[in-house]
Amino acid sequence: MNRLTARLPVLSMRIARTQAAELDDLITSDPEVAALGRFVTTRNPRDIGKFRTPTLRNVALTAPYMHDGSIPTLRQAVDFEIYYRSLRSQRPLILTPRERLDLVSFLDSLTSPAAIDFAKMVQFKLE
Ligand code: HEM
Repeated sequence: MNRLTARLPVLSMRIARTQAAELDDLITSDPEVAALGRFVTTRNPRDIGKFRTPTLRNVALTAPYMHDGSIPTLRQAVDFEIYYRSLRSQRPLILTPRERLDLVSFLDSLTSPAAIDFAKMVQFKLE
């Protein structure tokens, strides 16, 4: 978030000048605005950088991952989460490669057959 601190006045003005109905377009077209998270809709400074924890149901079908789609595969998303959340909690979660793959398999198992059919219909890329 430090990277964006200096940009906050400009970005806040941009957000303030945008009608509520156009906020979605602003968020999807401007990565700096998107990085501000929930703040864009509430305008409460405490919400800067806050993102809703997404559901993991059917997560294998919803690549790319994270709020900005910056992580292309589920395996990388799991590796990133383990690294990033460990770093934040200052309690490293040390998992073997096998255990990480087990986690990916677990996440795969949260996929419903109906969602697979739907993904095929709209031609999502299945991992
Ligand atoms: C081994 C433990 C964990 C696994 C396997 C895991 C897995 C994942 C995956 C696959 C995603 C991507 C979801 C998507 O983009 O649709 C994700 C995102 C996220 N997870 Fe986790 N997670 C773990 C731990 C945690 C913990 C401990 C927290 C909170 C304290 C957390 C909070 C979040 C949040 C806020 C996001 C969204 C991040 C963003 O959109 O940029 N996760 N997680």
